[in-house]
Amino acid sequence: MADEMERLTEALSIKFEELSLIHQLSEQLKLDEDPATLCDCLLNELAPCITANTLLIDIERDEESGVRSRMFSTGQLHSPDFIRHAIECVEHYHNDSHQAVMVNNHVVVDESGPWRFIVVPIHGQNQLLGRMIAIREYKSEEFGTVEADLMKSTSMMLGVHLVNQRQFMALQHMFEGMIGSLASALDAKDTYTSGHSTRVADLSVELATRLGFDEDGVARIRMAGILHDIGKIGVQDSVLCKPGRLTEDEFEQIKQHPVLGYEILKGIRPFRKILPAVRHHHESWDGTGYPDGLVGTNIPRDAQVLAVADAFDAMTSDRPYRSGMPLDKVVAIFQGGRGQQWAADVVDVLLSCPEVMHAYSKREPTDS
Ligand SMILES: [Fe+2]
Repeated sequence: MADEMERLTEALSIKFEELSLIHQLSEQLKLDEDPATLCDCLLNELAPCITANTLLIDIERDEESGVRSRMFSTGQLHSPDFIRHAIECVEHYHNDSHQAVMVNNHVVVDESGPWRFIVVPIHGQNQLLGRMIAIREYKSEEFGTVEADLMKSTSMMLGVHLVNQRQFMALQHMFEGMIGSLASALDAKDTYTSGHSTRVADLSVELATRLGFDEDGVARIRMAGILHDIGKIGVQDSVLCKPGRLTEDEFEQIKQHPVLGYEILKGIRPFRKILPAVRHHHESWDGTGYPDGLVGTNIPRDAQVLAVADAFDAMTSDRPYRSGMPLDKVVAIFQGGRGQQWAADVVDVLLSCPEVMHAYSKREPTDS
């Protein structure tokens, strides 16, 4: 009875440790991380729990999602050829690549000596995604079910997470493709300002970074920059592509584009975070802008940054009917409009970075 109790207590303690590890790992795994980070994190957590010369995760190549074959390991290094040969031997010996295999007596030899192995397949959606492998010197004690069970549990979790991660990345990829297609559609329609959106996005990122935006904020402003003028898709070609001066009525049509952009994007959830920037990038600090005549700090911060980047690119870019302004003139306009048309601190950041202004304009200042 006492022996049985002791055996049960030990089994419970092992299961508890296994569950703690799984819980710890599940809290650390993030969908938007690179698979390498995920595998490294998992190996680091697993290494103290399994005595082995090498712990290794071998990810299989997947044509569909573009995942390439990769190997991650802790402990003693082995060549990929050694690992592949070992997997072949183990799986051939057991004639099954779908089950966890523990090999304590079958010896795979290389020049460094015989080894013991545990090879656990990593499955996800009925597909073999890779393998988790533990390698121990033959002279050490045999692997047992404790190590094998721990590896099976973590492999199962890794499999689910890798599938989720691949789906997340595919969605992300599709979303980025959609943004690119929308921007190309606008470029195709508004050939006069081709490339404007990308330049505004890049300059907005420069400014936002210097203004202390966090990583999410910088990513958001990049997307807003690319799509800020998307509403121009809804403006008539005869107005949008008219060289020279616009009539009052034509200008009123152009002024609809921030609201049109807002309406185009508002139905798509991931775009909601950029709606304030898209709608308000033509507001003016003194309240004379459009479409809502917002004043000062009522203008969303992203729109304040975008407005400066947008105006800078519009002033410095060549158009078929006029050349871009020289930088010294652009600087003078920004100095005059600082705190009147644009947020003063955003203008200050731009004017304090001559190297950025030079890089983003096609023309050198006339006095330099
Ligand atoms: Fe605009």
